[in-house]
Amino acid sequence: MILARTLAELRAARAKLTGSVGLVPTMGALHEGHLTLVHQARADNDAIIATIFVNPAQFGLNEDFNAYPRTLEADLAAFANGGVDIAFTPLTTEVYPPGFQTTLEVERVSQGLEGEKRPGHFKGVATVVAKLFNMTQPHIAYFGQKDAQQVVVIRRMTADLNFPVDIAVIPTVRESDGLALSSRNRYLTPDQRAAAPVIYRALKAAGDAHAAGEHHPGVLRDLISAILATESQGRVDYISLADPITLQELDVPTDSPMLASLTVQFGQPRLLDNALLPFSLNTRVGLSDTLGRT
Ligand code: PAJ
Repeated sequence: MILARTLAELRAARAKLTGSVGLVPTMGALHEGHLTLVHQARADNDAIIATIFVNPAQFGLNEDFNAYPRTLEADLAAFANGGVDIAFTPLTTEVYPPGFQTTLEVERVSQGLEGEKRPGHFKGVATVVAKLFNMTQPHIAYFGQKDAQQVVVIRRMTADLNFPVDIAVIPTVRESDGLALSSRNRYLTPDQRAAAPVIYRALKAAGDAHAAGEHHPGVLRDLISAILATESQGRVDYISLADPITLQELDVPTDSPMLASLTVQFGQPRLLDNALLPFSLNTRVGLSDTLGRT
């Protein structure tokens, strides 16, 4: 594995790769969710590039940029183990050199859900991902369902700006009790950790109700809310039933797919999760076709 710290080193190493190149962008503090993206990328491509960059532009002023976990040594070992050809770990000044003033805004799909809670977040994400696409020149880029709105924003940007990159969406990797893996789970107390799987139970119950014919977004929202309320430790931030492409909130019944997403605050960590309804769409093919269509 080649370790590139500068853009010049990355470009020199990229120029030597042949065939299809997969890209896995991350902010490090790797867990099995990230590594599943690496494994999929490895299986699909002749070569893969993985990046670690804690992007300051996507953190709000009151967010955890400084406290974001950084585990570079272990991350590089995991990348090497996963068959990564080039690991790109740039310094902030390499990505945002002095004088930097160009940003990218994907308008409507960035506005609701996480975009409403975290103003400017998706501008930071879209800008850095566009830069990573230009820097690494991948054929396929891999993103996790875990951040479903991020997928929709990047898909839109890729289509709107004609990036010659396919976006692959990989299903959320979970603990055996259903909790979605996240770098922030390490900040849960044992009690909060024990309570957190209620999130997946709520999504699963919505999936079961949907399969039994309940297609009213308001009823599904109430059902999710009632299940989350059985755990007093979590403070629900939002519960959304939205169109998976426009991310517009739904209020009338539909037989088209819906994206159920929610965030719940357990102590310090704010846990984010989602599922497509019908539940059978939560596969790589179902997700890539449904969330990823442009
Ligand atoms: P990060 O949070 O490090 O996540 C990197 C990738 O791993 C994202 O595509 C995310 O959706 C995916 N991922 C995280 N947890 C997952 C899980 N449990 N199962 C499957 N995939 C999971 O997302 C970012 O970084 C940044 O916004 C980035 C795209 C790198 C731009 O800075």
